[in-house]
Amino acid sequence: MIATRTRPVSQLTHLVAGVRTAVERHADWSETADLVAAQLRRHLPTPDVLTAEQRLGSPDGYRSHTLHVEPDGSFSIIGLVWRPGQVTRIHDHMTWCAFGVIQGVEHEDLFDADLNVLGGSDNHVGDVSGFAPPGDIHRVHNTADTTAISIHVYGTDVTRIGSSVRRYYD
Ligand SMILES: [Fe+2]
Repeated sequence: MIATRTRPVSQLTHLVAGVRTAVERHADWSETADLVAAQLRRHLPTPDVLTAEQRLGSPDGYRSHTLHVEPDGSFSIIGLVWRPGQVTRIHDHMTWCAFGVIQGVEHEDLFDADLNVLGGSDNHVGDVSGFAPPGDIHRVHNTADTTAISIHVYGTDVTRIGSSVRRYYD
């Protein structure tokens, strides 16, 4: 997966302001994830937050595009593009996260610490959820036959630490 960087896009202005307000409440991770998810639900971007080229994805695996990094490093907003069949490794995160689907369908499987499948869900356009470690071991898979795009907000500066992933399990 290769990360590329784009300039902030105007349709992110309200989302950035809303997430900033949520983060500045300094709630615990779980509550922050819920507060950020509420902002993402309210200000969910449309696919043209990415360029036409970015929306194509890549045959080499899902692609990540950094759309915003808060100057104080408290959060980042990422666009992920998945072609049909593309899948993450099983992983968890170092911090809270909220994500929303803006194109296609993303299938998510949740695992316990022994990597037993706890359940799966299909997330469609407009579906938004927030989660926080521990208990966030998951895998995301585009099981549909069209390219999927989702917006993720992570509680860290992903460009500084390279990724929001805490650990891969496979
Ligand atoms: Fe993840």
